[in-house]
Amino acid sequence: MTVNRDELKRAAALRAIEEVEDGMVLGLGTGSTAAHVVEGLAARVKEGLRIVGIPSSERTAAQARRLGIQIATFAEYQKLDLTIDGADEVELGTLHLIKGLGGALLREKIVAAASKRLVIVVDQEKLVERLGEHTPVPVEVTQFGWQATAAALATLGSMPERRYIGEQPFVTDEGHLILDCRFGPIADPAVLEARIAMTVGTIESGLFVGRSSMVVVASDSGVEVLFPPPRGAV
Ligand code: A5P
Repeated sequence: MTVNRDELKRAAALRAIEEVEDGMVLGLGTGSTAAHVVEGLAARVKEGLRIVGIPSSERTAAQARRLGIQIATFAEYQKLDLTIDGADEVELGTLHLIKGLGGALLREKIVAAASKRLVIVVDQEKLVERLGEHTPVPVEVTQFGWQATAAALATLGSMPERRYIGEQPFVTDEGHLILDCRFGPIADPAVLEARIAMTVGTIESGLFVGRSSMVVVASDSGVEVLFPPPRGAV
């Protein structure tokens, strides 16, 4: 029996929520899978779970508020216990990620970097042998001089395209633009992440290298949990 993709996302979200303990400060991800996490957390809060969430986007903040999850900012907490978030591609073996098709990559990376653990929730279609197989790498850039930044990113072997929503350029929660950079399969995501970071005008890229603590994958045959190789092994 084929399970609908949204049900798979929900199944992964519910498994990830089992990692949440009373009293935790949680990073709340962005996207359709992360929205299932927020929904599931809200149900647990109604049953008495005490958590505080730091949302990675205005969209997630609005959802959390609406569902009665207490939210906070980095002014109150600089260290988070756990973040649960979605991803656009997960590299089998390494569990490196591409994120940011939803446009929240900068805040997502800040939240992930401040968290002791990052649990990623995906359906089976997000798993790839090599990052970049299907998805461009989203790069958040300043509005000023974005054309020059795009030209510099092109020299790294990509085809940058400014992201639009309808007729309008997409603008992130932090007021920046996104260049979707199609590299094709990426041989060394760590090197590429560093090269993008060194390109003047870039703020962050959607490459998340060595950040996953655990990936929950839902497929037609059930929910599976993947762990990254020990540090230094890749
Ligand atoms: C948001 O900026 C992204 O990083 C999302 O986490 C990613 O796009 C996954 O979204 P879906 O869960 O909607 O596929």
